[in-house]
Amino acid sequence: MVSSALRDLERAGYRRVLTAALGSHERQAFLSAGFAPVAWLHLLSRTLDELPSAPPIVLRRVRRSEWERVAEVDGQAFAPLWRLHATGIGEARRATPSNRMRVASDASDRAIGYGVAGRSGLQGYIQRVAVAPEAEGRGVGSALVVDGLRWLRARGATTALINTQFDNERALRLYLRLGFRLQDDRLAVLGTQLGTAA
Ligand SMILES: CC(C)(COP(=O)(O)OP(=O)(O)OC[C@H]1O[C@@H](n2cnc3c(N)ncnc32)[C@H](O)[C@@H]1OP(=O)(O)O)[C@@H](O)C(=O)NCCC(=O)NCCS
Repeated sequence: MVSSALRDLERAGYRRVLTAALGSHERQAFLSAGFAPVAWLHLLSRTLDELPSAPPIVLRRVRRSEWERVAEVDGQAFAPLWRLHATGIGEARRATPSNRMRVASDASDRAIGYGVAGRSGLQGYIQRVAVAPEAEGRGVGSALVVDGLRWLRARGATTALINTQFDNERALRLYLRLGFRLQDDRLAVLGTQLGTAA
């Protein structure tokens, strides 16, 4: 299936293919089809019985008119490999049957951070957290993660998973401080080039 999908992508003109973040048991079919690791991620988990308190930061829904700004915040927060455009943020939201997205804004109501949480049955996910560089270190990231955790618990999830790049010490510190624990399994994003055959 992977090789067949790669042929379809090549015919459609794609030159590089990346997977989602995959656990060890999910990687084999891609490795056999020629994929190699592009980036490694920590996987962290926490139960939702006792939640940390959140900094007093007002969060609100995203407005239709500000998707471009939200994508801009994402682009400022993440290195190119990880950036999402508005469509990608929408896809991250639709990755689970139910989701919650919240935005933090500055005094002039301009979005400075956003977070996406998703739930599938008892399992919760903090899918995305991004804070504009000029707004870091004031509790926005913590407020977005704790908001997602509260929403997940209110909807019946019992655990939450989150992942972050190996070299993202800031995010790792934040998640450990908020009660997440590192899991033994690491995740990897795999990649392959297309159209290199003569
Ligand atoms: C990781 C990220 C979400 C953190 O967001 P943030 O808004 O800076 O997070 P917080 O302000 O809640 O916490 C960050 C630090 O500021 C400190 N802080 C929080 N509120 C504070 C305040 N009012 N005064 C001073 N310091 C404060 C926290 O103690 C924390 O310290 P630590 O780094 O030692 O843990 C943000 O840096 C980011 O978007 N990074 C790029 C994208 C990314 O990595 N996303 C997550 C990866 S999956």
